Amino acid sequence: MNNPRGQKLKAAATRIKGGVVRRAIRWSQTQPEWAQVGPPHPRPTPVVEQALRLSPAMLHDPTPSPALTAELAWQTPSDPPSSQELFRLDGEMLPCWQESDVGLYDDWLINPTYYPYYDAFFQQVSKPDGPTRLLEIGVRTGYIAAIFARAARGRTMYVGVDPNVYLRNGLDLASATLQRLRSELNTNEFALIEGFSWDVDVQKTLAYSGPFDLIHIDGDHTLLGKLIDLELARRLLAPGGLVLVDDYSYHPPISDAIRRSLALGWYHEFALIPTMRGLAVLR
Ligand SMILES: C[S@@+](CC[C@H](N)C(=O)[O-])C[C@H]1O[C@@H](n2cnc3c(N)ncnc32)[C@H](O)[C@@H]1O
Repeated sequence: MNNPRGQKLKAAATRIKGGVVRRAIRWSQTQPEWAQVGPPHPRPTPVVEQALRLSPAMLHDPTPSPALTAELAWQTPSDPPSSQELFRLDGEMLPCWQESDVGLYDDWLINPTYYPYYDAFFQQVSKPDGPTRLLEIGVRTGYIAAIFARAARGRTMYVGVDPNVYLRNGLDLASATLQRLRSELNTNEFALIEGFSWDVDVQKTLAYSGPFDLIHIDGDHTLLGKLIDLELARRLLAPGGLVLVDDYSYHPPISDAIRRSLALGWYHEFALIPTMRGLAVLR
């Protein structure tokens, strides 16, 4: 375009376009949800890459360990409390209870073989003379955190990590739940970390705070995410501690990750608690 009027128009259009883009970027930076989005994908460490490269011929369905199974002495509770009872305190539902969660997917919230089984399991594996230290990867609103605080026989320490990706206020609700229980029971301490379990700084924070007697893995449900958490958990586990992995019988990537972690010797023993989605126990 050679005429000066046309060039001016072109320059003005470029300025307007640049201004709109700059304003859109500035606006996006003021939106809290944008600020919270981390890098889109976790990066596998060399040891996790090794697990991903294992050929199918090297992977086997794990056989439950007789020693671990006997030690857990799992007994199906004969008259378990309902989920509603477990999450009610002084006639009120704890803040973790979200009515909108009732009826989700397979109705995990009120299934009699889900939280009521965790309740029985924590009663069994907690130390009567405490403290029992639980790390949970994937907190949501704190359902497991609440069950653990109430079921454990002695004092407890709960550490939870969650980036608040499913629910923006998940950790607020978990915090309110655990504070409410702490003022009532006076036996549970806790710390909540907002972040991804694959974040190096989060992993360092956990290493400074560990080791843990129990680690419940229930965060990222992809094969890569699960492998990262299984590899992290073995480094954070106290001697004789147990790693618990939810959804073993429900999400194929989870049993796949467990097979790989056993093939590489990250864990040596496997047992299965028959919750509705299968709770794998490793050590
Ligand atoms: C199935 S929910 C956890 C439910 C919880 N364990 C309970 O039953 O009380 C999964 C949670 O994992 C979180 N999450 C997803 N990716 C994660 C990661 N890389 N690290 C930690 N948490 C993660 C989600 O934000 C979500 O709150």
